[in-house]
This record gives sequence, C-alpha cells and structure tokens, in this order.
Amino acid sequence: MRVLISGGAGYIGSHTVVQVVAAGHDVVVVDDFSNAKPTVINRLEALTGTHIPVHAFDLTDRDKTERLFADERFDAVIHFAGLKAVGESVDKPLEYYENNLGSTFSLVRAMRRHGVGKLVFSSSATVYGDHAPVPYREDYEPLAAASPYGRTKVMIEHVLSDVAAADPGLKVALLRYFNPIGAHPSGTIGEDPQGIPNNLVPFIAQVAVGRREKLNVFGDDYPTADGTCERDYIHVEDLAAGHLAALTALEAAPAPVNVWNLGTGTGTSVLEMLHAFERAAGKEIPYEVVGRRAGDLPAYWADPTKAHEELGWRATRTVDDMCADTWRWQQGNPNGYPDA
Ligand code: WQD
Repeated sequence: MRVLISGGAGYIGSHTVVQVVAAGHDVVVVDDFSNAKPTVINRLEALTGTHIPVHAFDLTDRDKTERLFADERFDAVIHFAGLKAVGESVDKPLEYYENNLGSTFSLVRAMRRHGVGKLVFSSSATVYGDHAPVPYREDYEPLAAASPYGRTKVMIEHVLSDVAAADPGLKVALLRYFNPIGAHPSGTIGEDPQGIPNNLVPFIAQVAVGRREKLNVFGDDYPTADGTCERDYIHVEDLAAGHLAALTALEAAPAPVNVWNLGTGTGTSVLEMLHAFERAAGKEIPYEVVGRRAGDLPAYWADPTKAHEELGWRATRTVDDMCADTWRWQQGNPNGYPDA
C-alpha cells in the first residue's frame, strides 16, 4: 500500500514510518515540523535505506491538503499530526481545537474526495477520563477528558465514527495509546521533546545524561504500592507494530469504526521506572519527592485483550527494554536531533 503518515517526523510517527516501510509499503510523510526537526527524515532514510518523500505544511491548510491528494495517490492514512501537550492545551485551548480538529477535517475531506478509504487515528487513553474502572476497556462509555487536549481526542473519535458510519467507503481504526516510551534499538531515532520534558521518562533520561539536575517526583502519597502513580508504559516499537497491525486489519475489518487499546496491561510506578532506568544507565538518578501534579490519576492501565484477539498484536518489550533503548538513544543524542 501507499501510506500517507501525518506527523511522520514526530516521536511515534517516525518509529511507525520505519515499521511500515519494513513491511513493504511505500510511505509519504506530511509534517509541519512545528514539533520535529527535519534531520529526523535523514535518520529515517538511513534506517530504512529508502527515500522518504516529505511534504512540509500544516494540514489545517485545506488547499495544500487537497493539492497533495490531487497530486499523489494514497491507499491509507495514519494520522499522528496534532498538538499533544496536556498542560499547554489548558493555556491555549483554541489553538488545540483549531489545530487538532481542523487538521482532521481537512485530511478526511481530502481523503473522501479522492477515494482514500482507510484511516488509522492516533487517539489516547486520556479519553477514558477520570472515572473509568481499571483496567480500561474499549467499550467504556461515556468518553470524557480532563484537558482540552484530551477533549480534542474525544471529539475526533466522535467525528470519525460519524463520518465512517455515513460513508461506506471509509474504515477507521481509533488507537488509544497509554504511555509511549523507549526508542528504536539502533539508538538513531527517539523521543526529542522541545524544552523541559513534561513526561516522566524523557525527563529521567535527561537527568541521566546530565542535562537536568534531578527528577521531581510529583507526590508519593497516592494509594499505590509505593505511593507513586502507576501507568501502563508501552515501548514505542510495540506501539508502531500496533499501527501496522491495525493498518493491515482495516481491509477486512467488519465494522466501519474499530477501537483498540495499545497498552501492556501492566502498571509501573514512578519509582519503579526510576530504578529500572538506573539499572539501564548503570548510574544513580537523583530525585526529590515534591507535591502532586494537578490532574494526575493514581493508577491506570489497559485491558489489551481486544487488540490481541482482533489484531493478533500484543506488546512484547519489557520496562527494562524500554529503559535500555531510551538510554542508548539519549547517550548517542544528548541534545536530541541536530538542527541541521
Ligand atoms: C507519568 C507519571 C507523573 C514527570 C501523559 C498525558 C497522556 C499521554 C501520555 C498523550 C505521573 C509522574 C512525570 C515528572 C513525575 N500523552 N511524573 N515527574 O501524565 O500519565 O500521561 O502522557 O496522549 O495524555 O497525560 O504521563 O509521563 O507526564 O507522567 O513524577 O517530571 O510520572 O506525576 O504520575 P501521564 P507523564
């Protein structure tokens, strides 16, 4: 298949490009590079041994998006592009709604005009909101979210479900990620957050490589085994494999809309993750327990049964694998990707 991957220069997008190419598909990337560096593409071409055509524009531009689909033929789209910082979305809600919803409207409109019938969408476990019973199951309702970012994911899931229900020519996979971490085992691509990392593992990695002084642990008074929050961390390589499995399954998928959790089904605490990283890096990671972060839930993880039964997919990499691969990437790229 010829697959357009939006946000293909981003963290999860880039790892998915590698696996989709390795599976024998042709990949084209569209990315506005607002949160990724062009040098990612050089790394992807080195890893895949093939040319990766790139279109650098914002998908909210309907004319450019229409022109792309008029000029090129695609069999499927994997849509990663979007703003994704929970905290930032609270400060800039309009930008998040305009960008995340607008890019999806523009993309799906062009897909339908040009007969592109398969869409894999990057959703998030955040759509389960604060009240879903753990482990999270795909049939939970009502979907809610505690941030404008999360609400864009809930809204886009509804939009795509309604459009697919109305258009027999469109099949959609909604993939709900838990906590993606890790890096390609080559150490040449990985997570490269701009500025101070919001997320746990990139921050730990920057402490380990000497860019940050210590980790602030946001609270150790939660009702969990060691008092710190537990999350379902999934290796980005397993996540990429889940996208490939969903893409492959869409052709034969019985329903217009298919929802799958991509998680391991296991919770890991902040301190467990910190100690796993110390093992991977072979060094102590200094930390200080500080106050709780607003909005954090004590513990949640996926029920990954549905993806296993319907996609034949399951996460295989361990937390130690995730830390070892992250450390290899961070050691080789202490300041992330080069600017040029
Ligand atoms: C994990 C745990 C923190 C940083 C977020 C988004 C979610 C998804 C994944 C997009 C929490 C603790 C963190 C630090 C810490 N993103 N922590 N010190 O919040 O589970 O999920 O990323 O889809 O939508 O909400 O991930 O890595 O930010 O936090 O103690 O410096 O680590 O309190 O318990 P989170 P996280």
